[in-house]
Amino acid sequence: MLGLGYVGAVSSACLAKDGHTVIGVDPNQVKVDLINAGQSPIVEDDVAEMVSQYVSEGRLSATTDATEAIQQTELAFVCVGTPGQDNGALDFTYLERASTNIGAALADVDGYYTVVVRSTVLPGTTRNIVIPAIEKASGRTHGVDFGVVMNPEFLREASAVADFYNPPKVVIGTEVERSADIVRSLAPPGDAPLVIVPYEVAEMVKYVDNSWHALKVAFGNEIGRLCDPLDIDSHAVMDIFCLDEKLNISSKYLKPGMAFGGSCLPKDVRALNYHARSHDVELPVLTNLTTSNESHLSAALKLILDTGVRDVGILGLSFKAGTDDLREAPMVELAERMLGKGLNLKIYDPNVNLARLTGANAKFIQDHVPHLGELLVDEMGDAIAGSELIVLGNSNPDFSSIGDHVQSDTYVIDLVRIVEDSSGLKNYRGLGW
Ligand SMILES: NC(=O)c1ccc[n+]([C@@H]2O[C@H](COP(=O)([O-])OP(=O)(O)OC[C@H]3O[C@@H](n4cnc5c(N)ncnc54)[C@H](O)[C@@H]3O)[C@@H](O)[C@H]2O)c1
Repeated sequence: MLGLGYVGAVSSACLAKDGHTVIGVDPNQVKVDLINAGQSPIVEDDVAEMVSQYVSEGRLSATTDATEAIQQTELAFVCVGTPGQDNGALDFTYLERASTNIGAALADVDGYYTVVVRSTVLPGTTRNIVIPAIEKASGRTHGVDFGVVMNPEFLREASAVADFYNPPKVVIGTEVERSADIVRSLAPPGDAPLVIVPYEVAEMVKYVDNSWHALKVAFGNEIGRLCDPLDIDSHAVMDIFCLDEKLNISSKYLKPGMAFGGSCLPKDVRALNYHARSHDVELPVLTNLTTSNESHLSAALKLILDTGVRDVGILGLSFKAGTDDLREAPMVELAERMLGKGLNLKIYDPNVNLARLTGANAKFIQDHVPHLGELLVDEMGDAIAGSELIVLGNSNPDFSSIGDHVQSDTYVIDLVRIVEDSSGLKNYRGLGW
């Protein structure tokens, strides 16, 4: 166990409890001495008792010498600190040193060895820093003599031992099957979902988790700051918010795709922000939702313009499939910007078409987007014919088979990830995926 901080100390104690022989490694002599004296280097429920018991039983010890530890073991966990610098960049000094230490020790190890990165590291770190450093210092080959796994740690301080045994999920990032199997065998029993993914996915997951947790805290606090002057019990509001496991506390709305729009979300976000301003309450997260949405639309426009084509067919204009509602539909805004850039458009949306024909939304089209109304065509084939680029703007199931209707070199920009099999499309792009 390289690194005897919060993660390393807890993991050492828990793995010793599970029956493994653990040698902790840390350059900090005080931490090493504490462990060898049967004392915990950190304050954390249960860890002191566990360290005391397993040191006395001979299953847990510590040293400042990484070589000594690596040569007596089959697997190393890397739990060294990855502190942030003032500008937010990560300081990889400890990680690089630990990787080099492992590599130097592996130069004299005959058998297969597994290295598990548990520190939180940015995508690309395991592949570009850890593996090359071990290979360079050891002269051995990754995937043959040793395997590296990126296995992010999800424990929280103050409930770390319980979290170690009940992780929300087990993420094994590796391309080396032999090491994946070894790490899988070490995972705590239980019903936590286990996934095996590329290194970068495992690395990214941890950052997405922590950003999401930070976003939740900031969101809850902003709701609280607004409820306060309105004399509303914010905890009662959030209790009700959390009762909704269909839309609120659920996987809904989280997959990257089209910008938000429609008749409710943009209007209601604006109204809430206005209300906050009128009470002199600053809500940076909620205020910037609109800015973020705007950036997403700009990115979509850039993706379209970068193709360099002029004739474009748009499939899906309303903000989601199954409605003719065009109010604040992001595809309407995008179409207008495309027109502004001089692109020629043909637009097909069966629901909007129906609304136009039956008069349901005809007035809206006439009053607000008459120039787009004129570009509507009656059949999907009419929008496709002569278009060098097809933009898929909502998830109408008819659009998923676009590959059957266009030439293989036609540009297809799928803003909603509706196409299931894009193998026949040479110029198929998504936005944010
Ligand atoms: N603390 C948490 O709750 C938590 C949870 C999940 C993930 N993480 C991540 O796990 C990593 C470790 O976090 P922590 O809070 O345990 O850090 P920490 O700062 O408490 O401990 C890191 C330890 O690594 C030691 N170290 C430095 N260089 C070393 C080397 N070459 N060889 C061996 N040991 C070395 C340091 O002396 C220190 O004792 C970080 O990347 C962190 O982001 C932390």
